[in-house]
Amino acid sequence: MSAAKRLAGEKAIDYVEDGMIVGVGTGSTVTYFIDALGRMRDRIAGAVSSSEQSTERLRSHGIEVMDLNAVGPLPLYVDGADECDPHKRLIKGGGAALTREKIIAEASERFVCIIDPAKQVPVLGRFPLPVEVIPMARSLAARAILAATGGQPVWREGTVTDNGNWILDVHGLAIAEPLVVERELNQIPGVVAVGLFARRPADIVIVGGEPPQLL
Ligand code: 5RP
Repeated sequence: MSAAKRLAGEKAIDYVEDGMIVGVGTGSTVTYFIDALGRMRDRIAGAVSSSEQSTERLRSHGIEVMDLNAVGPLPLYVDGADECDPHKRLIKGGGAALTREKIIAEASERFVCIIDPAKQVPVLGRFPLPVEVIPMARSLAARAILAATGGQPVWREGTVTDNGNWILDVHGLAIAEPLVVERELNQIPGVVAVGLFARRPADIVIVGGEPPQLL
């Protein structure tokens, strides 16, 4: 699948304009985008990064990484996804960067999502839904998630997010109403972010292939 990821990541460069500050997601597909961005680094003003991993790679290309608070709303955010439904609603967080990804997506005028074809699904939920939680709320949040969705939360042991929190992956879901589930899980005390991007879906989805397909 890495050829498809590369084709999607490189196609997203079409949306980058001279002088832009670009919001940058996290993951293997985004790595191809960052590398392509590096080849045009002199034409952009900088980037806002969603993870330490992406920050390191951006800096390795000489791209300045800026603080979202200092640069305000962004024209463009490019990120991958773990699943994408026909309405461009997403599951994200396989790389544990969902909270910062959600913040930058919300702060951006246009969200371009880059995926390989295997990420396309009719209904979200086959990929376990990541939920970032404050460590002391892990058990409480897991019980509440089970009660609200019927899905089975599994602690991603050993993973600590860039924000110092933990991840629960919720298995066994078929999410017919992503907006409702996103809203309900967001209300559980101790939940920092839910890896459902339904309230703020992607605007454009690039599915990697020869040629890349636009949704
Ligand atoms: C990280 C993410 C990634 O976008 C998602 O996991 C897809 O990753 P990849 O491009 O490696 O398949 O949400 O938190």
